[in-house]
Amino acid sequence: MTESASPVKYLIVGKTGWIANMVAALLKERGESYAFASFRLEQREACERELDTVRPQRVLNCAGVTGRPNVDWCEDHKRETIRSNVVGVLTLADCCAERGIHLTNFATGCIYHYDDGKHRYVSEGGVPFTEDDPPNFTGSYYSRTKAMAEEMLRTAFDNVLTLRLRMPISDDLSPRSFITKISKYERVVNVPNSVTVLTELLPVAISMSERGLTGVYNFTNPGSITHNQVLALYQQYIDPRFTWKNFTLEEQAKILKAGRSNCELDASKLQRDNPGFEIHNAYDAVEGVFRRMQAAMKADAL
Ligand SMILES: NC(=O)c1ccc[n+]([C@@H]2O[C@H](COP(=O)([O-])OP(=O)(O)OC[C@H]3O[C@@H](n4cnc5c(N)ncnc54)[C@H](OP(=O)(O)O)[C@@H]3O)[C@@H](O)[C@H]2O)c1
Repeated sequence: MTESASPVKYLIVGKTGWIANMVAALLKERGESYAFASFRLEQREACERELDTVRPQRVLNCAGVTGRPNVDWCEDHKRETIRSNVVGVLTLADCCAERGIHLTNFATGCIYHYDDGKHRYVSEGGVPFTEDDPPNFTGSYYSRTKAMAEEMLRTAFDNVLTLRLRMPISDDLSPRSFITKISKYERVVNVPNSVTVLTELLPVAISMSERGLTGVYNFTNPGSITHNQVLALYQQYIDPRFTWKNFTLEEQAKILKAGRSNCELDASKLQRDNPGFEIHNAYDAVEGVFRRMQAAMKADAL
C-alpha cells in the first residue's frame, strides 16, 4: 500500500515574520498548498512530530532572530541568538535531512564587508563577493551566528538551499523594508550595496525549492545601489518634499552597538541557474519597486 500524498506541499517556518508572510501570500496567489509550522526551531521533538504529521514535500525556513528594534539587540542576547540562528536552524536542517525533505533557508549576505584590497568598491576596481569567498565581516553578533550556521549547513547537509538575502525591499512601505528603514533615519550613510527586491526574487526562491536546488546562492539583484540613489528615487516617486542628511561610516559607528555590513555580492550564479527569470540590476529593480508603489498610491487615490 502506498501512502497518500500530503495535502501540504510547503511548510513555512516563521509564521509571524515579514518574509514568511510574503512567501505565504505568493503561494496562496498561485493556489499552492502550504501551512505554517507551529514548532520553535530548536524544539527537536516538536519539529519531528510536525514533519511526520504534516509530511510536507518541502520546508521553507523564514525564521531567525533578527533583533528588535534592530540587530544591536543580538549583542546583548547572544544565547537567544544562537538558539534560533545556529542551534535552531541546524536542528530543522537535520530533522529534514533525516526525512529526505528539501529545506530552503532564507539566510543573509551580511557576512561580508568591503575591504581595501580585492573587495573594495566595484566602482573602484573591486570584485563582488562570490558564494565561495570566506565571510570577512565579524562586526555584529547577528552576522557571526549566520556565518557559523551557513558554514555548517554548507558542509554537512545536502538537502539545504541557502539563499543569502541583503537589505530586502518590498513593494510597500513596510517598516521592515530597506527603503522605509533608511527614509526614517535621522542621518544615513551613502554606500553601494546589494539588495534583494522581493517581488522579483521570491518567485525565484519558490522555483529553486521546486527544482530541489541545493547549496549556497547570493540571493540578490546583480550590481549595487547606494543609499542616496534609493532616497533620490523615494523623493522622485513618493514624496517630492522629502530630504535627508548623510553622515560618514565613522560617525555612524559611534551611534551603533553592532557594526553594519556593506558589500556587493556576485549574483551571477543565481542568474545562471535561473535562466527563465528576468532578474534586473539593483538600480532598475528598485526603480521598478517605486514605479509599482506610485501606481498603487494613484489607484488608492481614485
Ligand atoms: N529583514 C531583513 O533585513 C533581512 C535581511 C537579510 C536576511 N534576513 C533573514 O531572513 C529571515 C527572515 O527575516 P524577516 O525579516 O522576515 O524576519 P522577522 O520579521 O523578524 O521574522 C522572523 C521570524 O522568525 C521567527 N523565529 C525567530 N526565532 C525562532 C525560533 N527559534 N523558532 C521559530 N520561529 C522563530 C519569529 O517568530 P517570533 O517573533 O515568535 O520569535 C518571526 O516569525 C531571517 O533569517 C533573517 O535573518 C532578513
